Amino acid sequence: MIGKLPKTGTIEIAPSILSADFAKLADEIAQVEKAGLKMVHLDVMDGHFVPNITFGPPVIANLRKYSTLFFDSHLMITEPARYADAFIKAGVDNITFHIEVEPDPKGLINKLHDSGISAGLCLNPETPISKIEKYAHLADMILIMTVHPGFGGQSFIQEATDKIKPIRQLVGPNIRIEVDGGIDPKTAPIVTALGADTLVAGNAIFGKPNRQQAIDDIRNACVK
Ligand code: DX5
Ligand code: ZN
Repeated sequence: MIGKLPKTGTIEIAPSILSADFAKLADEIAQVEKAGLKMVHLDVMDGHFVPNITFGPPVIANLRKYSTLFFDSHLMITEPARYADAFIKAGVDNITFHIEVEPDPKGLINKLHDSGISAGLCLNPETPISKIEKYAHLADMILIMTVHPGFGGQSFIQEATDKIKPIRQLVGPNIRIEVDGGIDPKTAPIVTALGADTLVAGNAIFGKPNRQQAIDDIRNACVK
């Protein structure tokens, strides 16, 4: 753990390294750090909860040596509680887990807080808000998926944005609402207008040769 989740009141962009060159991860992260961002989004996939495999604690622990960015880890894994300690030890600043697979969300959120990191609760596009109602106020961030998790570069699922306003009403102004999947200069202003304040973008940043320009394009699109 290095940093704290930025307080609400700002729009933060969290580039997902899923679309970066995995052979040059430290350099790729350095580029977005240089562009002035505070967070980087780490998509961990287990080939079980989602049909893809990415990376785990050993890769994150090595990246930690090269970056002081806020490590926003998104665990797309079946047993997040079982592996939480390994990710904390690797140096993540946040763990977001999926409500669909965690039998004791309150227990896991408490554990993450006791370990000094922040906690995010994630819902798949088809998961209703009722699933998080009891726990949302305990989390630091709610992550709303706007694609089916597993792969970068998919198209934005517009219907999932219907959950943003009601979740903002549910959690109030002090909890971040992050949106993940298909975020680009076209979709970013849609989700921020509805109350999201944390934007994950993979393909729209690491899929572009000029990362600074790509980040500026997303940010400028959100300014009315
Ligand atoms: C999807 C991941 C996302 C993904 C976003 O399973 O959770 O973070 O990398 O990628 P883009 O922005 O390309 O949709
Ligand atoms: Zn993600």
